[in-house]
Amino acid sequence: MPLVNTTDMFKKAYAGGYAIGAFNVNNMEIVQGITEAAKLESAPVILQVSAGARKYAKHVYLMKLVEAAIQDTDLPIALHLDHGADFETCKSCIDGGFSSVMIDGSHFPYEENVAVTKKVVAYAHDRGVTVEAELGRLAGIEDAVNVSADDAAFTDPDEAVDFVRRTGVDSLAIAIGTSHGAYKFKGEPRLRFDILEAIGERLPDFPIVLHGASTVMPEYVRMINQYGGSMPGAQGVPENMLRKAASMAVCKINVDSDLRLAMTGEIRRYFAEHPDHFDPRQYLSPARDGLREMVRHKIVHVMGCNGKA
Ligand code: G3H
Ligand code: 13P
Ligand code: ZN
Repeated sequence: MPLVNTTDMFKKAYAGGYAIGAFNVNNMEIVQGITEAAKLESAPVILQVSAGARKYAKHVYLMKLVEAAIQDTDLPIALHLDHGADFETCKSCIDGGFSSVMIDGSHFPYEENVAVTKKVVAYAHDRGVTVEAELGRLAGIEDAVNVSADDAAFTDPDEAVDFVRRTGVDSLAIAIGTSHGAYKFKGEPRLRFDILEAIGERLPDFPIVLHGASTVMPEYVRMINQYGGSMPGAQGVPENMLRKAASMAVCKINVDSDLRLAMTGEIRRYFAEHPDHFDPRQYLSPARDGLREMVRHKIVHVMGCNGKA
């Protein structure tokens, strides 16, 4: 099966009341862990690549790893640019074989966001590539964008309608209270489901994306802290809130921090238990296995996309 764009995945996810997991990839073990999990659960999956990932691993290596995963699993896999900062970055990923891109103009004034999104949509659609945009600003740290919790601006549902109609974008990331990283809420976790509902009513059948959606799994935070790390106060989005979002208009749920925590927790444990080992295959194997089981859990208990490949 060739790389797919997100059109069909999102159509089925919307109708079925589930979401597709979008996981950030940076190296071979991460690609393998995620796609092995998707294979075991017969799940469609989105592998996404940030500017930081392209810088770390190089575009061509990530492309070839994903091609290998498709050959190995025969699953519907979309390869997506995460938080594309400008038209040139999106164009480079489209020209370089990605099936989906995000243009993140959320930090621009509204009309600039519309203009750059329209330009990316025109280029991408001519080449069969789908486009995600963002409206509203998430709290936390994104690639080259730093928004404090107090500055986070929730998405305005009426603006979302105008934005989608004018840009022709395929999906929209919205701000309803999630944020990137492992420290998401100052107090009680709270998401603005009223905004999600209003957007769902005004844009029927239109796929919404949730960034900053790691649950910051307590077992991995505990593991990190138990084996010499220090992450006091780490807190993510509760699973039941993500399941509720997936049953509404949310068709794509982004996860990166949980992958980092699972790998780091397993590697810390490995070294604590085997302080004399130094073969990378020895500590990267449990890291890949732990990540795989974590992703299986997400697919089944958060996304609900198991069996939908
Ligand atoms: O939203 C950002 C993703 O977690 C990617 O993070 O830019 O450190 O690769 P990164
Ligand atoms: P987390 O930091 O919650 O994993 O969010 C990742 C994300 O939104 C990538 O775009
Ligand atoms: Zn994001």
